[in-house]
Amino acid sequence: MKHLDISEALTDQTLRGQTAVVCGWVRTYRESAQVAFLELSDGSSLPRLQVVVDKSKLDVSAECTKLGAALAVRGTLVGAYKGEGNELNAERITLIGACPAEYPIQKKRTTLDFLRTIPHLRLRTNTFQAVFRVRSVAAQAIHRYFHAHGYYYVNTPLITASDCEGAGEMFRVTTRPWDAKAASAEEYYKNDFFGVKAGLSVSGQLEGEVAAMALGKIYTFGPSFRAENSNTTRHLAEFWHIEPEIAFAELPDVIEIAEDLLKYLINAVLEECPEELKFFDSFVEKGLIEKLTHVAGSDFAVCTYTDAIGILEKENARFQFPVHWGSDLQSEHEKYLTEKVFGRPVFVTDYPKEIKSFYMKQNADGKTVAATDLLVPGIGEIIGGSEREADYGKLVAAMDARKMDKSAYKQYLDLRIFGSVPHGGFGLGFERFVMYVTGMENIRDVTLFPRSVKNIM
Ligand code: 4AD
Ligand code: MG
Repeated sequence: MKHLDISEALTDQTLRGQTAVVCGWVRTYRESAQVAFLELSDGSSLPRLQVVVDKSKLDVSAECTKLGAALAVRGTLVGAYKGEGNELNAERITLIGACPAEYPIQKKRTTLDFLRTIPHLRLRTNTFQAVFRVRSVAAQAIHRYFHAHGYYYVNTPLITASDCEGAGEMFRVTTRPWDAKAASAEEYYKNDFFGVKAGLSVSGQLEGEVAAMALGKIYTFGPSFRAENSNTTRHLAEFWHIEPEIAFAELPDVIEIAEDLLKYLINAVLEECPEELKFFDSFVEKGLIEKLTHVAGSDFAVCTYTDAIGILEKENARFQFPVHWGSDLQSEHEKYLTEKVFGRPVFVTDYPKEIKSFYMKQNADGKTVAATDLLVPGIGEIIGGSEREADYGKLVAAMDARKMDKSAYKQYLDLRIFGSVPHGGFGLGFERFVMYVTGMENIRDVTLFPRSVKNIM
């Protein structure tokens, strides 16, 4: 259909006086004795186009005034009565798709809880329009950043026979019905599609390392799957994951790249989504723009795990789970560190090896690994990364200590035999990033169809 995007109709002042056709959905309707006002949205911009109807010249059928109705409007673009943009003086209004009164998105601001029950319609609200525009801009910026810095974009398999984090939180991939007669698990899997137990990948890192050992700098940007039973506002069973992997890099390099990427992405959203950020700043998180501007312009903090525990132990009275050296940091500790102690993003480094994955580089102290988590206010962990263990013997020892089946990791171990080099990388949770830059508090509200425990609408 020949028509003009509302973003253009609204802002292009050279179009004033010209005839235009726009298409969109009715977002508001009001009228007086002589004039009717319709606001139309077609998704191209957060601000909507006001359509002005002179009732003495044009009849508007009741169907065209219903919220959610899809219309095509032909008219003349003129400078808006209020504000800087344009509005459209209607000459002809055509109903493209009627919308009955049961339409669940009504004018009163509906709650996010309610909107979560109608994932197929919630995108027609300002909040979700803004979220998904920011998400799209951020995704483009991620590719731009890595391309500009000489990284190759690789696509790692989603179906895998190895569990990257070694934590057994994989969804199983199978074509077989359950067979209670199978003599053993091994026999059961032997008859399955791949002949071995297979699942959905929790991370592209292990294959990313393979690529980095030849291409130097690579990144992946795709879905990861976690069957963890954590029903929180920060966890999804299916999330999007950005994982750069860099050869000839050590932990300080990994930290530098992570900070640079995050600042680049924040700046991109600030520059490309001003209307959306203004919206979030007004209705979702007061002070959001100032927060992001400040973060993009200042240094992130760096703190070892051991120092972090020293700080947290003094505050143990306030925590549900008191900490000591060796304990995993819970969300409450992460938030306390980044919000109350540092007041900005903080890289926590050098965690005890027992609470981190087998592949992390073992430090000389014999107790810690060269890992880092980036914690940010409001979210907690947004990035997890490390230098990788490049020494064959030490890697084997770490796998043995975890009783891992080394035969499933032969290729990964080969990388430590054939020209092994220091290397590292990290994983950025895309939805957590979108939460951070929009101020949205529930990860289910920044992805189209959230998947989590007992939820696959
Ligand atoms: O810390 P994680 O588990 O690290 C890895 O997967 C490494 N293999 C990454 C690497 O070094 N290449 O996950 C990385 C990030 C987390 O910091 C978090 O932002 C996000 O992925 N994440 C999740 N996001 C949403 N829902 C979940 N269930 C998530 N699990 C991790
Ligand atoms: Mg992590």
